Amino acid sequence: MLKEVTATRYITPLREGGSLPGLIEADDLTAYVVKFSGAGQGRKTLVAEVVCGTLARRLGLRVPGLAAVALDPVLGLGEPDEEVQGLLRGSGGLNLGMDFLSGALGFDALAFPVDAAEAGRIVWFDALVNNVDRSWRNPNLLRWRGELWLIDHGATMIWQHNWPTAERSAARPYDAGDHALAPFAPDVAAAAAELAPLVTADLLAEVTAEIPDAWLTDEPGFGSPDEVRRAYAAPLLTRAPVIHERVTGLTAARATVTQENK
Ligand SMILES: Nc1ncnc2c1ncn2[C@@H]1O[C@H](COP(=O)(O)OP(=O)(O)OP(=O)(O)O)[C@@H](O)[C@H]1O
Ligand SMILES: [Mg+2]
Repeated sequence: MLKEVTATRYITPLREGGSLPGLIEADDLTAYVVKFSGAGQGRKTLVAEVVCGTLARRLGLRVPGLAAVALDPVLGLGEPDEEVQGLLRGSGGLNLGMDFLSGALGFDALAFPVDAAEAGRIVWFDALVNNVDRSWRNPNLLRWRGELWLIDHGATMIWQHNWPTAERSAARPYDAGDHALAPFAPDVAAAAAELAPLVTADLLAEVTAEIPDAWLTDEPGFGSPDEVRRAYAAPLLTRAPVIHERVTGLTAARATVTQENK
């Protein structure tokens, strides 16, 4: 289970985020970026953050540390902004917290070159979890202390929205044509050789054990939170050894960039 802290103060909303994440201070006197269970995107977004964030960290990719943030809806009463007030009122219980990278900058492909090996590891990981939210329009990559950090894994594992067809949809290819790192000649084959063997049933059991039970109970078609945990693990275990062969769009992306640079 994720480390658990209790929210003590709502600091400010992060207005760039579509789901209105907020900056929260917790009882460990640390600031967390919090994604709320009451946001329109629902609790599956939070589960996706936990599974992908924990898995990425275990594979050596940089993702801010995660925590479960317990929230008393009373915290919202003093908020002048009605939207924030409503969000806090609807988010009692556990929410997803992420270490706040103070002073982080948004990723700018022109100002921050990424080497082919690192780009390959990130594209391979995004292919594994089918992340559709790392495009050049909305990279969800931060630059902090000279390094690249991955955030926002809510729009991954599309199969979690339709479990009966999950096994089939999990076999689908990944189109990396719009990926923010496509122009950096990502070495996906090298990344696969390094990372795929690490994605074992044991690792995925440890990763999914981090998901709070509260976000898994009453999932239609499942008898217990652990059954849902296994459903999250299965498609990733299937995809890991083969997904590098199903990444499409990279040569085309390179060609376009070369064309534009002429
Ligand atoms: N851990 C963090 N440290 C510092 N800033 C962060 C962190 N997480 C998010 N942010 C900032 O907040 C913004 C919104 O976060 P995020 O992309 O996770 O939210 P979202 O609601 O899912 O966004 P969207 O769906 O619009 O992409 C980011 O673009 C970034 O500027
Ligand atoms: Mg985002």
